[in-house]
Amino acid sequence: MEPIKINLPEQDIPKQWYNLVPDLPVAPHPALRPDGKIAAPEDYAAIFPMNLVEQEFSTEPLIDIPTEIIEHIMRWRPTPLRRAIWLERHLKTPAKIYYKDESVSPGGSHKPNTAIAQAWYNKQAGTKTITTETGAGQWGSALSLACQLMGIDCKVFMVKVSFDQKPTPQMLMRTWGGECVASPSTETEAGRRFLAKDPNSPGSLGMAISEAVEAAVKDSTGSTKYALGSVLNHVMLHQTIIGLEAQKQFASIGVKKPDIVIGCAGGGSNFAGLAFPYTRDKIHGADIEIIPCEPASSPALTKGVFTYDFGDSAGMTPMMAMHTLGHGFVPKPIHAGGLRYHGMSPIVSQAVVEGLMAPRAINQLDAFEAAVTWARTEGFIIAPETSHAVAGVIQEAIKAREEGKEKTIVFTLSGHGLLDLQGYEKYLNGEIVNYDHPTEEIAKAEEELKDLPKAEARTSGKKW
Ligand SMILES: Cc1ncc(COP(=O)(O)O)c(C=O)c1O
Repeated sequence: MEPIKINLPEQDIPKQWYNLVPDLPVAPHPALRPDGKIAAPEDYAAIFPMNLVEQEFSTEPLIDIPTEIIEHIMRWRPTPLRRAIWLERHLKTPAKIYYKDESVSPGGSHKPNTAIAQAWYNKQAGTKTITTETGAGQWGSALSLACQLMGIDCKVFMVKVSFDQKPTPQMLMRTWGGECVASPSTETEAGRRFLAKDPNSPGSLGMAISEAVEAAVKDSTGSTKYALGSVLNHVMLHQTIIGLEAQKQFASIGVKKPDIVIGCAGGGSNFAGLAFPYTRDKIHGADIEIIPCEPASSPALTKGVFTYDFGDSAGMTPMMAMHTLGHGFVPKPIHAGGLRYHGMSPIVSQAVVEGLMAPRAINQLDAFEAAVTWARTEGFIIAPETSHAVAGVIQEAIKAREEGKEKTIVFTLSGHGLLDLQGYEKYLNGEIVNYDHPTEEIAKAEEELKDLPKAEARTSGKKW
């Protein structure tokens, strides 16, 4: 019998995070200030503590994880690397399917990996309150918990459509001591502006980020900071513990490398967490396919433009060179709330531009079909976000069957779906529909972005 749960002994938990930036053949473009000048670390000081800003700008390949952070994340880490043999048998595929189970954290997703780290660094810097945004509620609840553990107040702006659809995550946030308001709200100037434009606005991650950033900047005492759950370099860094553990776990069962690495991509963090250590291997010659899976309704990587754009809807954050649908993008109310974002991690974007990763769009019906197949074979109920990765995995496993190839596939199971059962109910009732992102919308985004600086898609020209 081959192992089904590959556990890493606690003492083998990685003690350093991995930074892909210095290994990329061409460095990502620097972030820019609103006046078009290159953003310096001080330009981030109003919203982030300097210890995290240092990580944001770091070009060190490995960064030590402070012991206290290791202790906190050891509440649930190392997470198991599991084998999905029942799905393999169901699909009659010769492929071996493995997954890093990030659903075992408190809160049930990968988000606490960076929430704990960010709250800890804020604590060292003397922060009293952290503001943030949340889509599905996973990030807001992870940060509420992390702030509680560090003795910091937490205020969460939750995208209105999710706030209305999902009361349960609000209870998690409150239980962990966080405060949650629906965004757009009347509490900030940005929120009032969005509401004046559309009083029934469903909100978006971009809008909620604008509100959270404003709430941090406007605190004249300087003791309120902002935290982002994805997209930024330091968030990708904190998530790499996923892939670094996976590499040790595969080594322990004699698997040198997987052939295919998959993750769902919203802002890119759970995907990057698993994929970046393998991207390093690919850059150094390993033959690995790396596939971020995004929703067809929010297809930044597969249909968006690679250029400079703001991280939020109101244009308050620095501009980043990334794949974007335009910061004015108002996403469709699909059930994978955490994937409805207009932009992408600039490091993931640069790796895609370089050709190291091959993004794929998945429609909502295929994602839910994959989620139900997973539940009926593997047993676990996964988050609607994660189902995009599973749909990609199933496509690859079927391809392996058709080609008669014994591929090793690994993906991040980014979260459980026990708080998302309304989505499952709608799918089972036949009420879920697909939304594509029409080409006219891309033209609209290009128009919106035309006055912002352009980012050239630079590559090394190598074939990977
Ligand atoms: C379970 C789950 N998976 C994936 C995501 C997408 O975020 P990211 O692309 O940063 O991993 C989210 C975001 O809220 C999430 O809650």
